[in-house]
Amino acid sequence: MENGDKHRAPRNRTLTLTPLEHQRMADSLLRPPLPSKPASLVDQIVCADSLSLFATLPRAFVDLLILDPPYNLNKQFGAETFREMSLAEYESWFESWFPSVLPLLRPTASLYVCGDWKSSVAVHRVLDRHVIVRSRITWEREKGRGAKSNWKNASEDIWFATVSNNYFFDVEAVKLKRRVIAPYRVNGEPKDWQETENGDFRLTHPSNLWTDLTVPFWSMPENTDHPTQKPEKLLAKLLLASSRKGDFVFDPFLGSGTTVVVARKFGRRFLGVEMNEHFACLAAKRVELANDDPSVQGYAGGVFWERNSLNAQPKEISPVTDEHPMLLETGTPYRVTKSKTK
Ligand SMILES: C[S@@+](CC[C@H](N)C(=O)[O-])C[C@H]1O[C@@H](n2cnc3c(N)ncnc32)[C@H](O)[C@@H]1O
Repeated sequence: MENGDKHRAPRNRTLTLTPLEHQRMADSLLRPPLPSKPASLVDQIVCADSLSLFATLPRAFVDLLILDPPYNLNKQFGAETFREMSLAEYESWFESWFPSVLPLLRPTASLYVCGDWKSSVAVHRVLDRHVIVRSRITWEREKGRGAKSNWKNASEDIWFATVSNNYFFDVEAVKLKRRVIAPYRVNGEPKDWQETENGDFRLTHPSNLWTDLTVPFWSMPENTDHPTQKPEKLLAKLLLASSRKGDFVFDPFLGSGTTVVVARKFGRRFLGVEMNEHFACLAAKRVELANDDPSVQGYAGGVFWERNSLNAQPKEISPVTDEHPMLLETGTPYRVTKSKTK
């Protein structure tokens, strides 16, 4: 899946690696045995089997855990194939390693676990035994193959849980800007909405039903050849809601690196583990690119925007706002821009 393996259309922006880049990125990856101090793991990508790594990682260093393990589907991840099992077997597989991640979490940590409608049932049963489950987010995938004798599967789940009742959640950071359907006025003035030259919008509280995401596809610069890549906008919501600047985010099923890319863009520390070297190298290249382009598609002016609202979004080169200043210590050359919508 490296550069040159495929003939691509001119407008195809899928990120690839030249053999030289692959070598440079491969040299930058950590491999076991790992250093034992959290400071040596800051902003690192590890190429390894994470299940055998948990026991060797420092205790209580993670503020936010993102788990996007293989769903219970037959799926090829590079040379490895994940084979579908019964729901009970998937639950046992999850239970076989999940408790060994828990000692890595701080008592105030939050966690998010991704799944589809089927696997998320098993995931919930395991989470419920070990942590405090707070919500299930369901998000709409725009892509999906129609089925002849079933409903087209167009949704995925993300469980939100915390280690204790003492946890961080910044609802203001993840509000959604939506077009106003019924613009209500009081004394001629807009009630709870803003009139702009690009339309009427309301800033709404984020619910656990997300319909504003687009799964990365070939003309998006964030797209890679990874078969189950998550949108940056999705990870941006998780990180902004459940971590502070400088917090430690851990993703042991890193894939193409979306979690660590977004962590870099929003000034969080990170550690990612991916067993496939090609994907780990793609992740490392994406983090490098994030230094020069910290924008996240669908996030502008300090808020998330509903789908198909690009023309209404403020034109900024970075997602930085006064409310959520970031990246200064990570050396990104972008200035802090003031949101034009406020
Ligand atoms: C669902 S994908 C994650 C996708 C990722 N969130 C992204 O946006 O690209 C799961 C990833 O976990 C990796 N993986 C599976 N088992 C693993 C293990 N035991 N250790 C490390 N990585 C693993 C697979 O190679 C695959 O890339």
